[in-house]
Order: sequence, then structure tokens, then C-alpha cells
Amino acid sequence: MSVTAIKGVPVEIESLGISFGAADIVSGIDLQVREGEFVCLLGPSGCGKSTLLSSMAGFIEPTVGEIRCDGTTVRRGNPHAGMVFQSSEALFEWMTVSGNVSYGPRMHGASKAEQVRIAAEYLAMVGLPHSGDKFPSQLSGGMRQRVQIARVLANQPSLVLMDEPFGALDAQTRQVLQIELDKIWRHTGCTVVFVTHDIDEALTLADRVVVMSAGPRARIKSIYQVDAPRPRDRAHPDVIDLYEQLRDDIRAEVVASLRNQGIEEDEL
Ligand SMILES: Nc1ncnc2c1ncn2[C@@H]1O[C@H](COP(=O)(O)OP(=O)(O)OP(=O)(O)O)[C@@H](O)[C@H]1O
Ligand SMILES: [Mg+2]
Repeated sequence: MSVTAIKGVPVEIESLGISFGAADIVSGIDLQVREGEFVCLLGPSGCGKSTLLSSMAGFIEPTVGEIRCDGTTVRRGNPHAGMVFQSSEALFEWMTVSGNVSYGPRMHGASKAEQVRIAAEYLAMVGLPHSGDKFPSQLSGGMRQRVQIARVLANQPSLVLMDEPFGALDAQTRQVLQIELDKIWRHTGCTVVFVTHDIDEALTLADRVVVMSAGPRARIKSIYQVDAPRPRDRAHPDVIDLYEQLRDDIRAEVVASLRNQGIEEDEL
């Protein structure tokens, strides 16, 4: 795989709180992500995972506290970050797949030849070497999501933020993309923060798994270190053990979240 190495940046989140009007979404969040680390973020629906990720990208400003990326406070926008959204609707439908992937470099003044090289390199990386001349509408959902990932990585972000990027995909495509992403991450060295609801996915990808508590005022409830060797074997005893701990931990928060919404567990 001929992929340009990137130096991942560290992210420090300090006493972070984000409110929308009177609603306190997350509060008292402290988290240090090391350079080149792969962190997965789990928690009940609506607890504030996307909000937290968007604040790392500089799309949402903290209400209190601070986020630093490579030592610099993140305000409006984060030049180190590239964000992959849950749906692939973010693709430019009127541009070819190659045009989508080389869009960022083109905006930064890359020559025509350079754009062609970059598109070919990153499409090969995500397993789509022959789709450059197609339009997004001619691709399957899984292929579109790969294009979105290639488009983000083509900008060589040193912080990759991924919000349930494989959430809408079938289990088989999901597994293939997880393996590809693990390879890409190991070859590039970027820092990754990845939101998912899937414990298996988190244990396949993460150096650390961060569990958020139920909102409102969601916090970091627990952090699990995953030391099992890569590529991960789901049958590894450490992975099985962590799966059970995470399942119980998250279940407790999902029940708390539903209770906070007025739904009791025996009604489920
Ligand atoms: N721009 C906004 N204005 C007001 N409230 C918002 C805004 N964005 C998010 N929220 C609220 O913040 C809370 C957290 O939303 P967020 O999308 O971060 O949750 P999440 O953990 O990503 O959930 P899911 O797992 O379902 O994607 C929700 O109650 C949501 O309604
Ligand atoms: Mg979300």
C-alpha cells in the first residue's frame, strides 16, 4: 500500500461542557487522545457523541472548557481535522468519484497531474481502483462510504474524526471496511476518533474505548484499554472479556437514558 505517512496530532479536552440554549448536553469532559492513537467513542443514543466529535472538528464551540489540538485551542474550524459523516450524502453528486476525492487537494492548488495521482492513490487504498470515472449515484452505499473516506484521507488530516461511518452498511461490508480502515490507520499514523454503537467494531479498531454516560450532562463514564494484538481476533480472551464488560456498562447507560426520557426498562 503506497500511502503517505502522516504524523498524528494529540487532542486534549479539558473540563468541556456544551449546552444548546438551556440544555446541557455534555459536561465535565476530560480526555487526552495521544498522537496516532485510535479511540472509539460509545454511549447511548442522544448522549452527545456527535456533538463532542463536532466540537473536536471546530464545528461547535465549547460552552465551557477547552479543546486543544496539537497544542492549539480549537475555535472555529480545526485545520488538522477531517470528518467522515455517518451518511455519504456529503458527496458531490455532480462530480466524478475522482473529482470528489481530489477536491480538497484541488482547492489547495494541486496541479491536474497531482490531482489524478492523489485520486488514484486514495481510491486504490479504499479498494476502488476502477471507479474513478463513475458518478456517486452509480455506486452502492458501501462504495459511496469508501469514497467519502478516501476524500477525507486525501487531505491528509492528522486527526480523522469518524461519526458512525459504517452505521448504515450490511455486516459483511462493514467487516471488510473495518479491516481496511485498520490497515490504513496503521500505514498512515493519523490520530482517529471514531463514534460507533457497535462493541465488536470498537474492539476491532480501538486502542482505547471511551464510554459516555446517559445525558443530559453526559460525561465520560469509563475508559477501556484494548491490548489484544492487531489485526484483532474476536476470539482472543481479552477481547471476549472486554466485550462482556462493555456490554454491561453500555446497557446500564442505555437503560438510564431511556429512564431519563420517561421509559421504564420493563416497558421495553
Ligand atoms: N444544534 C443543536 N441544537 C439543539 N440541540 C442539539 C443540537 N445538536 C444536537 N442537539 C441535542 O444534543 C443531544 C446530543 O445529540 P448528539 O447528536 O450529539 O447525540 P449522539 O450521542 O450522537 O446520538 P446518536 O447516537 O443517536 O447519534 C441530543 O439531545 C440532541 O437533540
Ligand atoms: Mg450521533
